[in-house]
Amino acid sequence: MYTAGNRIAWLQGPGATCSGTGRVPTRPWHLVLLGPPGVGKGTQAERIVAEFGACQLSTGDVFRYAARDTSGHAPSPAMATALAAMRRGELVSDDTVVELVRERAQCLNCRFGFLLDGFPRTLDQARALDEILAGLQRTLDGVINYTAPEALIVERLSGRRVCKQCRAGYHLTNKPPRVADRCDACGGPLVQRDDDKPEAIRVRLQAYAATCDPVLAYYRGQGLLREIDASGDPDSVFAATSGVINRLQQRARH
Ligand code: AP5
Ligand code: MG
Repeated sequence: MYTAGNRIAWLQGPGATCSGTGRVPTRPWHLVLLGPPGVGKGTQAERIVAEFGACQLSTGDVFRYAARDTSGHAPSPAMATALAAMRRGELVSDDTVVELVRERAQCLNCRFGFLLDGFPRTLDQARALDEILAGLQRTLDGVINYTAPEALIVERLSGRRVCKQCRAGYHLTNKPPRVADRCDACGGPLVQRDDDKPEAIRVRLQAYAATCDPVLAYYRGQGLLREIDASGDPDSVFAATSGVINRLQQRARH
């Protein structure tokens, strides 16, 4: 069992150093998680981090961290535009997202390995990632694509709640807190993400449908893509995920 660090170098960008990262895995993984909004990437990422040690690098988390910035500094114009797009459920521009990842390239070189969650989302982003990794003389071990029927995804997104203080995730019926509207871990209030409101959910699903196929084809062409049906409960989806990662490991040995 590995413990997650505070990922501050990823969330804040250059100049910040992570702490609390614990034991270094003997085999650092370099993986990408793909799949529609709400399919369960973040839920599985948490378990992959605990079992395999890789650090979760979510581009959505970087934007949410910037949105909560209490330093009193106004966000850069590019970040302000990105946050407005995110609230509407639209994709942030490729230029902004790629720049953000490029600035954090040190995280792709991390000794814990990495688990990219929510990036890349377009073909241009996938190509840019390959270029960044080539600069680091690194390659991906695999790309996992989670799928589930749209009705299930809408149900997962509309029932999701997150702790306003510690960002722990819940679901009104699938993963309810012990006390209504209060975080089990820190007692903070549970809130709904702005982009989990019905109008934004619709826009997000459309944005995903419009951009996912070329990305999937790109990684299929590289022999990296592994498909997982994510319609079961989190344990069964994680069992399938572990199976995929273990098979990737066996393949790497031969
Ligand atoms: P991002 O944060 O990446 O969001 P997303 O892709 O829309 O995915 P979510 O985080 O909403 O869902 P998830 O798959 O992690 O599901 P979760 O595990 O939480 O991006 C947000 C926004 O940022 C984008 O819309 C865009 O604006 C911008 N952005 C980010 N990256 C970008 C990029 N690369 N390019 C352009 N723009 C970018 O699960 C959801 C719920 O379901 C939870 O309540 C959970 O408890 C429950 N659940 C999960 N798994 C199960 C299960 N197996 N059974 C039952 N319930 C489950
Ligand atoms: Mg997520």
